[in-house]
Amino acid sequence: MKIFTAEQIKNWDRFTISHEPVSSIQLMERAASAVAGWISENCKNYKRLVVVCGNGNNGGDGLAIARILYLKGFDVDVFISDPKGKFSADAAVNLKRLRDISGISVRRFNDIAEYNFDDKTVILDALFGTGLSKPLEGEYRLLVEQINATKNIKISIDIPSGMFADRLPESDAVILKADYTLSFQCWKRSFLHSEAGKYTGKVEVLDISLHHGYLEETPTRYFVIDDEVVEGIFRPRQEFSHKGDYGKVGMIGGSYGKIGAIVLATRSALKTGAGLTFTLAPACGYEIIQTTCPEAMFIKGGTEYVNNFGIDKDLICGIGPGLGTHPDTEKKLLEFLKSYSGPVVLDADALNIISKNKKNIERIPEKSIITPHPKEFERLFGRTGNSFERLELAKEKAKLFHIYIVLKDHHSQIVTPEGNVFYNVNGNAGLAKGGSGDILTGILASLLAQRYTEEETCLLGVWLHGKAADFAARKHSKESMLPTDVIDELGNVFKEL
Ligand code: ACO
Repeated sequence: MKIFTAEQIKNWDRFTISHEPVSSIQLMERAASAVAGWISENCKNYKRLVVVCGNGNNGGDGLAIARILYLKGFDVDVFISDPKGKFSADAAVNLKRLRDISGISVRRFNDIAEYNFDDKTVILDALFGTGLSKPLEGEYRLLVEQINATKNIKISIDIPSGMFADRLPESDAVILKADYTLSFQCWKRSFLHSEAGKYTGKVEVLDISLHHGYLEETPTRYFVIDDEVVEGIFRPRQEFSHKGDYGKVGMIGGSYGKIGAIVLATRSALKTGAGLTFTLAPACGYEIIQTTCPEAMFIKGGTEYVNNFGIDKDLICGIGPGLGTHPDTEKKLLEFLKSYSGPVVLDADALNIISKNKKNIERIPEKSIITPHPKEFERLFGRTGNSFERLELAKEKAKLFHIYIVLKDHHSQIVTPEGNVFYNVNGNAGLAKGGSGDILTGILASLLAQRYTEEETCLLGVWLHGKAADFAARKHSKESMLPTDVIDELGNVFKEL
């Protein structure tokens, strides 16, 4: 799914109005109906709606939603800035339509301080949409602070008021803290970065049938990995096939006290479907690995830590889980990377070793996939001020070194050498545990060995990892789910694909 800027979204509205054709007031009614439909379906236990409306088209959407839901049986109270104020043309039409119906009270923002919010009331935020041009001030800032102080469910229309679509908020910005954001037609980039994303609550993308022609002809560098993308990449196993058709993967890592990490990576590679799986680890892990991963073949890579990378060159390698940073391991890893021509997947201690000297980065074979978390990224490429800047730096480095960077985050970002960014939107905070990254390394190496392209590997792999985590959270809770539970759920994810 493409992600557009606020400007592109505005143009998409205009394109739809001229090409469908449809009038802007009809388009607003369509957007309002989509929201009203979602609220009727999802807020059945709530009786009353408080709708706060700005003077622009987002406010116009809010006024239309208030009318539609009142006619569907909700009690509705609407708050606006000033009834004599200047409204956009379509908002003015909707204010009049609302006023023509008796039974809906239209009050001023000041009155919210006295309002009695009971627990059956939902607050609908239609103050500002993508037209926000500066941070909230004055009565808008005060209103949002008052709403944020309530315990009621809050639903933002298109974007939480006070948030920009294409840039991150200042640290002192006041932004409506929504429980749900109903975003029209596509995600906004800011939703996908923690500095702003913490305000959106759950994001639902509502289809308001904006014209398909615009979607097809308008280029973007930013995408969300959705089910459709994944279904286009995934290749089910063929009946008349054998293990040789599904590649050979080599998982390299483990050290005394960290054998569990390479076990997790190996089990993930197996459960993701590689034809043959080898594990190169120190001898101290031999019995553990052979017992927990009997399907994998063990290659001795040292005694207590890895000090040789004696692995066939036709294996696709995932390197790093539990590897440690012993000087011998470091020396051998750097030699291996220099001599190896194919792409590899690098994580954890492999990245920590590389980041000890910036010159080492040049040794990463072209088209390799690296999977740093923010701290590992900082060690490799330096510190940035915020997650937008980090992503820009990642784009620069992916291009320079011709590598794929998977920036692990709440919404992980895949950065390609061509400068495209794919955001993953599944997964959950249950993954914030040691071992989760080891699983991703195993999944990615396994897919790469099965001859998915590097880009396909990243998109499918990150999505599989997040989806399996969502299944595990449903069964065990985010608190109790373990990385091993995530591995166990991979099978159920494949069954659903
Ligand atoms: N404080 C005070 N006022 C502000 C602030 C601020 N911090 N920031 C912006 N404003 C003002 C702007 O100056 C502008 O007013 P102006 O037009 O008088 O200059 C107004 O607030 C803009 O407010 P928004 O409602 O955020 O922006 P817009 O009117 O562009 O609507 C829209 C945004 C189209 C609703 C978008 O969020 C959206 O939802 N699009 C999906 C489809 C849809 O619903 N379309 C509506 C009908 S079709 C159409 O609009 C063409």
